[in-house]
Amino acid sequence: MRVLSGIQPSGVLHLGNYFGAIRQFLELQDDHECYFFIASYHALTTQRDPETVRANIRDVAAGYLALGLDPQRSVLFDQADLPEHHELAWYLSCLTPMGLLERAHSYKDKVARGLSASHGLFAYPVLMAADILMYSANLVPVGKDQKQHVEISRDLAIRFNNEWGELLEVPEPLILESTAVVPGVDGAKMSKSYGNTIDLFAEAKPLRKRIMGIVTDSTPVEDPKDPDTCTIFSLYTLFASEEERKELAARYRAGGMGYGDAKKALHEKAEELIGPARERRKEWLSRPDDLEAVLKDGARRARESALPLLERIRETVGFPARPR
Ligand code: ADP
Ligand code: TRP
Repeated sequence: MRVLSGIQPSGVLHLGNYFGAIRQFLELQDDHECYFFIASYHALTTQRDPETVRANIRDVAAGYLALGLDPQRSVLFDQADLPEHHELAWYLSCLTPMGLLERAHSYKDKVARGLSASHGLFAYPVLMAADILMYSANLVPVGKDQKQHVEISRDLAIRFNNEWGELLEVPEPLILESTAVVPGVDGAKMSKSYGNTIDLFAEAKPLRKRIMGIVTDSTPVEDPKDPDTCTIFSLYTLFASEEERKELAARYRAGGMGYGDAKKALHEKAEELIGPARERRKEWLSRPDDLEAVLKDGARRARESALPLLERIRETVGFPARPR
């Protein structure tokens, strides 16, 4: 199966993003041919400062590489290196009914939240369809919020095939239903918009401080505690082995352990994962030429894979073949 997904180069990644999405994305590398790209053109729908755009692209590439994206096995590229996506987006655009885009929740939500209703924002799902269809991807792993966009891609592939012949693979969304919603430091769902996140690449001290600040109830130290309703314990289970989980649960139920100790245990386990990833990320960021080389090699492989189909499409719609 060919897997493809786009990564928005925006914002700081948090534990919810990692355990709810990124980790599952990266596991797909074991069994599938994966294409992961940084959705730089998409980012322009919301970002205007060129320095921020540049920094976010490097940042997200370094972050994913640090977390285990293997650029040998998978193709990692920057969408901005493949303007060909826009060519396919145009062919699709010409078959896209306005009503289909007018029904897109993501567009309506973003406008309701105050983003300006630009044509780019409106046409975003068409560019996303081009991203997917250009590589004949079969599976598109995304969070629930992107499911409708993948459905629009399916719809556009079918319309294209009906109009111009069976050239496009109809993709399937692979919705990452994370096993559990990762709670934030206040116990509500961890989310950028709630200000309750624990950053995935937090430095050791701020990480410790953030964990020590997790809100708990006021059960006295000596009393037994319920691990199943405790935010610290939910977070601990993400990092710990089954055995470690059982052990800490037993300490909760036995009483005599304060939440401070549970926080320390969580911090230790979190640091085991975050510490090395943080260092790997810094290392990538300190070698911008190597990072650039990975993206350029990814772009070359992506183009090699996309061009034959794009050329067939050009001829199909009635354009002359391009000289090679
Ligand atoms: P935020 O809510 O911080 O804006 P995003 O919407 O950018 O996060 O999330 C990107 C992906 O990360 C989502 O598709 C979702 O699968 C995953 N995710 C985010 N927050 C959580 C969470 N608290 N628990 C589980 N998964 C999450
Ligand atoms: N729209 C996706 C998001 O906001 C990012 C994205 C762009 C994407 N193109 C894609 C995801 C193609 C999957 C496939 O997260």
